[in-house]
Amino acid sequence: MKLGDAIKKRHSVSKFKEKSPDWRDIIECIDSTRYAPMAGEIFTPRFVLIHDSKKIQEVATATQQHFVSTAKYLVVMCSENSKTEIHFGSDSEDYIKQQNGAAIQNFLLSLEEKGLTTTWIKLFVEENVKETLSIPKELKVVAIFPIGYEYKKETKEKRLIELDRILYYDKYKNKRMTQPNVAGEDSVRPWF
Ligand SMILES: Cc1cc2nc3c(=O)[nH]c(=O)nc-3n(C[C@H](O)[C@H](O)[C@H](O)COP(=O)(O)O)c2cc1C
Repeated sequence: MKLGDAIKKRHSVSKFKEKSPDWRDIIECIDSTRYAPMAGEIFTPRFVLIHDSKKIQEVATATQQHFVSTAKYLVVMCSENSKTEIHFGSDSEDYIKQQNGAAIQNFLLSLEEKGLTTTWIKLFVEENVKETLSIPKELKVVAIFPIGYEYKKETKEKRLIELDRILYYDKYKNKRMTQPNVAGEDSVRPWF
């Protein structure tokens, strides 16, 4: 699958087929997070792959979102922040959020490439998730991903924000591009 197709096709799924994913595929998707950019090359994400049905139920209860309990696998992503905090002090909070987001996008696109689906879940009682999975208190639980095959392919058009509402040129709110120099040309011509 081409990267552009994976980006455009990815969408949240909350109803899964009975068919169980191959756990090795999920591990390959987790592996893809290791290629994400990390400040100071200090890797913060940690993962717990859950197949135990009792634990899936307990984590699902902590999310208060029933469909989570219907997945055959959950991936719980945590963040080990201590080294980044020591290294970057007060900047580390933003760094950690940004790099964990980059790692998550690698994970989501890798799932898409393998024909697997998920929904990024952030709403949960962190303490309950930690207790179920024996996650040390100093780690942060970042997100939970129920993994499965989509029950029925989504056909509805995705609502996308228009590009001209999010992109400006040279100055915030300036919507007109000045044509950049073509190789070998000195002048800058207006773009119409
Ligand atoms: C930080 C974050 C937290 C989210 N938390 C939840 C959640 O707790 N439950 C849920 O059903 N979806 C959650 N989502 C999924 C969004 O609702 C979903 O991505 C959005 O509706 C856009 O749909 P799409 O993923 O199909 O593009 C979350 C997404 C993000 C990025």
